[in-house]
Amino acid sequence: MSRRDIDLTQIEQSVVAPVASTQERQVEVSLRPLTLKEFVGQGELVKHLEIVLGSAKSRGQTVDHLLFAGPPGLGKTSLASIVASEMGSGLRITSGPVLARPGDIAALLTDLQDGDVLFIDEIHRLSRSVEEVLYPAMEDHRLDVMIGRGPSARSIRLDLPNFTLVGATTRTGLVAAPLRDRFGFIGQLDLYDARELTVIVERSAKLLDVVLSGDAAATIAQRSRGTPRIANRLLRRVRDFAAVKNHKVVTTEIAVDALDLFGVDVFGLDKIDRRILGLLCDQFSSQPVGLTTLAHACGEEPTTIEDAYEPYLLREGLLIRTPRGRVATERAFNHLGIKPRGGGLV
Ligand SMILES: Nc1ncnc2c1ncn2[C@@H]1O[C@H](COP(=O)(O)OP(=O)(O)O)[C@@H](O)[C@H]1O
Ligand SMILES: [Mg+2]
Repeated sequence: MSRRDIDLTQIEQSVVAPVASTQERQVEVSLRPLTLKEFVGQGELVKHLEIVLGSAKSRGQTVDHLLFAGPPGLGKTSLASIVASEMGSGLRITSGPVLARPGDIAALLTDLQDGDVLFIDEIHRLSRSVEEVLYPAMEDHRLDVMIGRGPSARSIRLDLPNFTLVGATTRTGLVAAPLRDRFGFIGQLDLYDARELTVIVERSAKLLDVVLSGDAAATIAQRSRGTPRIANRLLRRVRDFAAVKNHKVVTTEIAVDALDLFGVDVFGLDKIDRRILGLLCDQFSSQPVGLTTLAHACGEEPTTIEDAYEPYLLREGLLIRTPRGRVATERAFNHLGIKPRGGGLV
């Protein structure tokens, strides 16, 4: 087996999957923007954050609790660490599924230093009992701890240092209303446009010592499904391809050849995207399909389809959601080269 064969079989699965693998996270950390200035795009959100951070700084106070929502790979974790570094605060990172019991969150909270940022990723996956510990902590920097059991049980109150809770979620609608209400600011991240992604690819190329020429950056950006994480990943795959072929400079042609080879089409769609559209266009004969049925047919979780795949397919007008289910559009049929059966196209 040649080196290229090995790379290909391992890489093709993950090349545009929106969720990062553990190994990839390390590279991601090195590519993270460190300041708000370096953070490309999301203009309105960045402007609002500048005001929120600036005003807290000028009052010498900690920032209000912040919630960032949006599909995977758009910069939520990056923003959390930017908030900490802009405020000169410490950053503690955890996630909803890790905090199984109230004691887990209590231990974290009592260990915070004054002004720290506590980042809870996937905050919509916190259990109710853990959320209940968070409420007084977020509101009054207070922790109520139960000591003992049965009739002799009593509650003691601990004062916590000032801290900022930063939460991340794929959709605000998933976060329990009482928790959502306790955030002073909710920032929604949207998919990036090709121009912003081009800037991100150029920035990452510099950091990774990759020389791009012509429209190579724009070509990679175009196929990145509006997602910086995917743009960075495609850049690395293109770099690998160029290295194997002994090219020092990545030209537009090399970028196109590499992306074609990895099965990333001109829309940036991967296998799962194409399976989703294929099912809607072909197997389900253009009938509306419910999310659960579609997810089972693809072998994915409904939330993965909804959070990671659908936003881009919706934005590109390849799929629409109707009250009766998901439907592929004419654009999807054309893209897959499938002839619709019967009429009723959208
Ligand atoms: N606005 C941005 N500008 C530059 N790079 C970005 C931006 N947003 C995300 N990235 C890159 O994409 C990668 C994934 O971002 P991350 O913050 O982990 O996304 P999320 O937490 O929303 O899944 C990061 O490594 C970072 O390099
Ligand atoms: Mg993240």
